[in-house]
This record gives sequence, C-alpha cells and structure tokens, in this order.
Amino acid sequence: MPASQPDPLSVIGKAQPRVDGPLKVSGKAVYTSDHHFPGMVYAVPVCSTIANGEIQGIDTGAADKMPGVRAIFHRKNIGRLFRAGISRSFGAEMSHVDETRPPLEDDVVRYYGQYVALAVADTFEQASAAADAVKVTYRSRQPNVETRLAPETNQKVESERGDAAKAFGAAAIQVDQTYDLPPETHNPIELHASVAIWDGTAFTLYETTQGVVNHRNVLAQMLGVPKDKVRVVSKFLGSGFGNKLFPWTQSALAAAAARQLGKPVKFVVSRRMMFQSVGHRPRVSQRIRLSATREGKLTSLRQDWVNHTSILDDYKENCGEATPFMYSVPNLRITSAAARRNVGSPTAMRGPGAVPGLWATESAMDELALKLGMDPVQLRLVNEPKIDEGLKIPFSSRHLKECLATGAEKFGWSKRNPRVGSMQRDALTLGWGMAACSWIAERFACIANVELLDDGTARVSSGTQDIGTGTYTILAQLAAEKLGLPIDKIEVVLGDTRLPPGPLSGGSMVTASAVPAVMEAAGKAIDALLATAAKATGSKFAGRKASELEYTNGFVHAKGESASSGIPFADLLRMGNLRAVSGLGSSQATFGSATKPKLSSHSFGAHFVEVTWQPEIARLRVSRVVTVIDAGRILNPLAGRNQIEGAVVMGIGMSFFEETLYDPRSGAPINSNLADYIVASNADVPALEVHFVEFPDTNLNELGARGIGEIGLAGAAAAIANAVYHATGVRVRELPIKIENLLSHQR
Ligand code: MOS
Repeated sequence: MPASQPDPLSVIGKAQPRVDGPLKVSGKAVYTSDHHFPGMVYAVPVCSTIANGEIQGIDTGAADKMPGVRAIFHRKNIGRLFRAGISRSFGAEMSHVDETRPPLEDDVVRYYGQYVALAVADTFEQASAAADAVKVTYRSRQPNVETRLAPETNQKVESERGDAAKAFGAAAIQVDQTYDLPPETHNPIELHASVAIWDGTAFTLYETTQGVVNHRNVLAQMLGVPKDKVRVVSKFLGSGFGNKLFPWTQSALAAAAARQLGKPVKFVVSRRMMFQSVGHRPRVSQRIRLSATREGKLTSLRQDWVNHTSILDDYKENCGEATPFMYSVPNLRITSAAARRNVGSPTAMRGPGAVPGLWATESAMDELALKLGMDPVQLRLVNEPKIDEGLKIPFSSRHLKECLATGAEKFGWSKRNPRVGSMQRDALTLGWGMAACSWIAERFACIANVELLDDGTARVSSGTQDIGTGTYTILAQLAAEKLGLPIDKIEVVLGDTRLPPGPLSGGSMVTASAVPAVMEAAGKAIDALLATAAKATGSKFAGRKASELEYTNGFVHAKGESASSGIPFADLLRMGNLRAVSGLGSSQATFGSATKPKLSSHSFGAHFVEVTWQPEIARLRVSRVVTVIDAGRILNPLAGRNQIEGAVVMGIGMSFFEETLYDPRSGAPINSNLADYIVASNADVPALEVHFVEFPDTNLNELGARGIGEIGLAGAAAAIANAVYHATGVRVRELPIKIENLLSHQR
C-alpha cells in the first residue's frame, strides 16, 4: 500500500500495452538492417586474426577480381576519417565514443577482430567471399588477455571519508574478501548495423543506436562535415544493453565506403564480431573490506577495484557508484584502477558500475551478517543512513527500508532458519538469500514537440529513441494524460536527428527526462490552441479572450462551463484554416551538471531469492524471486514490471552462465556465439514476483517518475550467490557460479 496516494490520473499509472506492439508482431516495424535502397551494396569487414601486432601487407589481388566486388577498402583508400572530440555534456552537444581511434587509422592491431579492411560487393554473399579472399600478413606478438588483474596504472581515490584503514584495524568484526566478475558480452538479438547513404553533400545514416543525437555529433566529426550534413535515423531497436549507446567502427566504415562509392552501403555486424568490436562489460576484480561493531554497526568500508580496459582507451567500470551512500559508515575509501589488455574497448552494460559494485558489496554484507550472527535484512536496517554521507546532502527520496520490509513479508523471510542447509521442501534443500540494490535517478536534457492536428489527433516528437523498453508508449501516455485524449489519437515520433534533440537511451533516464518536456510541450500546444480559438472567425469564441477559455479532454470551452458545451479542437483548427498548433517543451539535465546537487537522487530496491539444491545430483535451481523496487511513480506498471523481470532474468544469467572467454594464445573471444556464450533462458527462470513501493519523487519531475531499465539487475547476482551459500555452505566469490564450485566443496 503506497504511503502517499498518487493524484488521480487517467492514463498514467495504468497498464498500457505497447503502442508499437502491433507493428512489431506483424513485422511492419522497420529495423536498421531491414532498410533497402536502389543500388545498395554490402560491406563485410576483414577482421584481424591476431590480437597484438602490426599489419605487414594486405593483398587484395584475388578479392578484387571476384564477382560483384565494388572495392576492397583499407587504410590507403578509405578516405579521411577523423577523431571525434569527446564532450561530456549530456545534451544536444554530446559527443562520446568509447573506441576513439577511427577504424583503419594505423597498421597496429590491438585486439582480435579489429577491422583491417572492408570488402564491398553487390550482394552480402559476394562481399563475404571477397573478405575471406583478402590476404593479410601480420607481424604478431603475444597478446595480453591475462585474467588475473593487478592495477597497472596508479590507483585513483574515488571517494573517501574518515580513516578506513585505522577503523578496520580496530574493529571487532572484519570481512576482507575479493570478488571477481568475468567480461560479459551484451547480446541483444538485433545485430549492430549501419546503412549509410551519401548524396554528394550529406549523409543519411540508419543506425542501431541508443542515441541518435550523439551518433550524429560523433559521425559528423569523424567524416569531417558539419552536423547539419548528417542525419541519423533509428526507429526500432532489437534492444541495446549499453553496447549501442555510442558509435562503433562499423558506422564510420559504412559511411566512408558510401562516400567513396556514391552508393548506399549496408554493414551488418555478425554475432561473432559482436564479441570483438562493439564493447563488453570488462573483467572486474574488487577487494572489499568491511568492519563492524558486535551490534552490526558498520565502522569501515573499503572497495578497491580494477577493471580491464583496452590498449588505447580508458573505459572505467565505476564500481563505487552506489557505495558511498548505500549505508551509514563513518570511514570509507573507494579506489579504482585499470589494467590494459588486448581486447576491444569495454563499454557500459546494463547498470554499469553499480551492477558489478553491488555484486561485491552486497555479497560482503552477507558475509558480515554471518560473522555477526545477524539477520542480513536486519544488518541493512541498522545501517540505514539519514543522508547521503558521500555527498553530505539529503536523499531526494529513499525508501529502501520499505523495500526490505515489503520484500521480507511477500517472501516469508521471517520463516528463514539461518543455519546452512537446514531448510527443506519436497526433499530439496532450500537456500534463501537477499540483497539490496540502487541505481542513479537523474535527467538528461530533452526537448519535445507536441502538435494538435485538425484531424483530432496529436503528434509528439523528440529526438530520443525506443530501445525496446517502451519509450513510444510512455510518451504517448504522457501526451494522452495532459491532452485528455485517447491513446490511439496520439502519434509518437522518435529516432531521428531532424526532431528536437532528445536524450540518450542510457542510465535509465529517458522517462524522467521526457516527463517535464512532454508535459510542457502539451501545455504550450493547448495555450496556442486557446489563442487560436479566440481569433478564429466563425467560432463562437471569436472575440473572447484566451484567458476566458479552457481546454478539457479535446474540447475548447468557456471557463466554468462543461467541456461538452465547447468545440472539439479539430473543428476549431479547421475554422481557423490551421493544420496544427504546436508547443515545444524542454527539461534541463541534472546528470553531468557542474553544480553540486542539493539532493542525492537514486532508486532503491531489494531482491529475495530462493534456490533449490539437490546435493546428490548437484542440481541447483533458482525457484523463487521476489523483487521490490522504489523507483518513484510507475507510469506504466506493465512495462515497468517487464523491465524488472527482464533484468532479474539477466541476473540469473550473470550468476550462473555469462562469461566471455579469451584464448590466451590468439586473444580471440572463443565462445563468440549464442550456443557457447550462455544467457538465461526460460528453463532457468521461475515465476518472478515484482512489487513497486510507489513514492513519487517529485524532485525529479512533476509526476515523480524515475527510470527502471537497469536497477533490476543491480544486486540480483549477490542475492542469488547469498542464497547459494545458504543452501550449500559454499561461498562463491567469482562469477559465474559453476557446478564444479559447489562439487569441489562437498562435504
Ligand atoms: Mo544503459 S548500460 O546506460 O544502456
């Protein structure tokens, strides 16, 4: 039961099915690689077969003569590709790319699968055959894909208060453990793709991108043309878990090939290449030191992490993101470090930083509870902070305690016997574990346009995109709510840099960013309509002041009178010979802002997990998960629950399966396909229970909505590992948890 009742709203907060659902299930939604244009040719890259060394020669003699081949591009004939400047602004000027070296810039190979040439032919098959026929010779060196991580660069202090080392040394109860996470590869079902058109003066790029505006800004710089000469379109995505946030090298290559040939070029990255050159979550090793009084009050927390990164770029997995404010602790020190490896650049993957970070800290909290002989829920409650002790500012809205209480009640946590292996059901050993979670709740800049049209419909547009999470639907709900129109009268247009600039689909921030912009735009469209009504000759409001009129549910009427006494807006527009009236609305970025925030803005939650364990046959299953999330007002509980469930499924995969393996000899990711890189599937996933404690966070926007795309993955693996310990007595500190971990410890 929500503690504060949301206002009566008619569309917001209702389970609204996806407005783009019919297009998707009927196959009418056009994805990037579905685009076809007259004269289009196909590009297939030649991928390096070494991970460290130099290209000595590229022999295109055989490939050049093959049927249908238009060109074999390499460093000497691809044309200029410039480096893009990095701007950490998160608005319309944003310019970020993880792999900063333009493709083919030099002859150095730094990771396996790096593009070294590009075959372009009339058909995909001809281009593939030609790419295979290109002979590349290398001077090869031993690659470094070492899995043990030690900091190679200096450690950097990320957050510090008090004296953590001293407090740790003096404490009655201590935990000092290291938690490891392997590289994980994003595997959206839709492959990365670029379709590039050059008309002699401007580029049109159809892209698989989580940020059309950033993609446009980066590609304009790489191609050396003004921004207004690049249009980026991305109407539908078959998901992106962060690996489509920023441009990868296939986009610049497709555009450069289109420029050289004067023909549309399609470049679809293969599943295998997706393990090489479009990002991954890096390997992370984290040493966690916790200390507490015998009563369970934390006295110190240290988190020292190392993540691997590529040879050229400095991707940082910000594991300390949630640590400084999660619990009350007077002495804290968080450090980061990186270790270079011959791998493609890592990138953000669902819940970057916080997801690996909370896997470690929430596992360590469970180990601390054990040492204290204290219930792990209770341990978290006694360390609940009053303010964000890292930034020394109040929380915007923090309801972790309510999440813990609701989760414990729904799960039946009070029946837990803490003794390892002590709980049984149907001859199965049960393990019950829990963990808390958090994810940032902020806004990017967003501009939206709302039009009221003379056919009685409304059109909402913004240069953001829907990565499959439901942005089309949420924007339709926002406009329908403000305009009082049925949802099927709203058209939402996204995914095009010709629209007013909208946010990156990242950080779970689109919804929170879109609310103020769409609400303001709809309000301004109504204002414009009222001004029109007062001027439209032939309307009964002609000559009235706009301030005497009101708009309700599609009707303009005199203030104080019923809506039905008024005139439908479509009729008014026709009387005025207007096709449409419109309004523009915007919201300002809070994320990345230079000024220190006044409030600490995060979402919170808790996972409660049951596993079943059959030691006789070493069979482990997740049998029950209850997740409770504090993400402000939930605008669409159907899409909302769907996001949390999907994230928990990913958490099951993270716990038991996901792991990118590199061959130490060649540096190649060797399980680079969906048969060998395992993700959780239906048989691995029980019925999932999701609850929201709805406390609207109106500091973030007027509806109090925060994002929910990522938080469900945070803490999930720790809750599962904690349940595995409770069932088996085996503490696994290196994901994924394998059956051999459990067997080797069998007593
Ligand atoms: Mo999310 S990793 O910010 O796409």
